[in-house]
Amino acid sequence: MPKAFIKTYGCQMNEHDSSKMMDVLTDKGYKGTQNIEDADLIVVNTCSVRHNPENKVYSFLGRLADLKKNNKELIIAVAGCVAQQTGKQILDRSPVVDMVFGPDNFFELPQMIESVKNGQRVLMTEWRDRTDGNVQNFIPEQWIEAGHADGPKAYVAIMKGCNNFCSFCIVPMTRGREAYRHPENIMREIHNLVDKGAKELWLLGQNVNSYRADNRGFLELLDDISKVEGLKRIRFTSPHPKDWNNKLSDLMAERPNICNHLHLPLQAGSNRILKLMRRRHTNQDYLDKVQYLRSVCPAAEISTDIIVGFPTETDEEFEETLNMIKQVQYSQVFSFKYSPRPGTKAEEMPDDVPLDTKRKRLERVIKTQERINEEKLAPYIGTVHQVMIDGRHPKKPDIINGRTDGHRPVAVKGSNANIGDFINVRITGFHAHWLEGMQEK
Ligand code: 5AD
Ligand code: SF4
Repeated sequence: MPKAFIKTYGCQMNEHDSSKMMDVLTDKGYKGTQNIEDADLIVVNTCSVRHNPENKVYSFLGRLADLKKNNKELIIAVAGCVAQQTGKQILDRSPVVDMVFGPDNFFELPQMIESVKNGQRVLMTEWRDRTDGNVQNFIPEQWIEAGHADGPKAYVAIMKGCNNFCSFCIVPMTRGREAYRHPENIMREIHNLVDKGAKELWLLGQNVNSYRADNRGFLELLDDISKVEGLKRIRFTSPHPKDWNNKLSDLMAERPNICNHLHLPLQAGSNRILKLMRRRHTNQDYLDKVQYLRSVCPAAEISTDIIVGFPTETDEEFEETLNMIKQVQYSQVFSFKYSPRPGTKAEEMPDDVPLDTKRKRLERVIKTQERINEEKLAPYIGTVHQVMIDGRHPKKPDIINGRTDGHRPVAVKGSNANIGDFINVRITGFHAHWLEGMQEK
């Protein structure tokens, strides 16, 4: 039986796509392997959202040449966002690559593999029918049936693409305009996954709360999904602050299975920078929404994405970002140095914040968040939380790992619970990024 290895870079949407690719490959007779040396097919699912992940793709591809020398039959494929944007260049630049395909084309893997076996190099980056407001079942029925829960967690794409064109962001170019799935197609996938053992679902989209199809917006869809029997936890990523509203906060507070965790990307704290970023909200709009959520759902944990050193960002404007971080009191901040991306509006602006200043700003974001985290974690000690177990400590056999409802990682000692179990854990300590606890008997 031929073996397939998939290397995934970037976001959860890419992890979702890789898992669907594995379903398609399994149907074609491949078996998944974790060992790249064993593989007859290697798929590199790429991310181009920032300069760094894109570079990693090319250095990874460079390492594959030797494998090809040892196995002449080996097929090497490049998928995802880098493939979509620079498909032809990848084929020109990397002779080891046999096929390149975009995020809209992975269900066509079987045909592409046949073409490669017939001696062709394949480039497939056509968009599947996208018009604005387009509703389509981009996960075909066959792959809903085939879908399996890989452990207790599973991803469900409710929409794809993005129409926002934030000035720094490459996504509208690599994943195209928005397309939404019919609600009944989504609900069928969810019921299938729950029947097969999924307990926590992640609803995915580049901008989940712009979902609209067949008289369902994100609020109505979330409401329907929260009523699915046996579905214990629902998470979603990412909502856009301009589209987040108080009704969504109310629903989150009201439904026990909609987790008390909101990842709400802020990007910057200054209104001038937010405007240049084309985010279409102010810092006060953001704070008002957060304040309302905390008023109806005090347990809510909020995380965010921050970009430092956007073109023309001054020291004072950067201080506004730090101020927002302090005011919101995030549970986690993912922070990035701005890097110009091809085809974006910001690429036309001068990348005028020196690299050293970007580094220093990033360091201050990290330090500020570390202090906030310490303050937020200390009161956890002595409290009891329901934790879903999702893994084992790689080195210490007496420790199992899980997450709270608010998505805090917890290392649990002295428990013989299994992956997928929900247990009550009394918190006994904390570290920079995780809590420690004991199972309550
Ligand atoms: N430079 C730096 N960070 C970026 N992101 C997106 N585009 C860029 C860019 N050009 C960050 C944003 C986004 C996250 C996924 O990546 O913070 O929310
Ligand atoms: Fe990119 Fe903005 Fe769309 Fe998010 S909302 S994917 S940052 S364009």
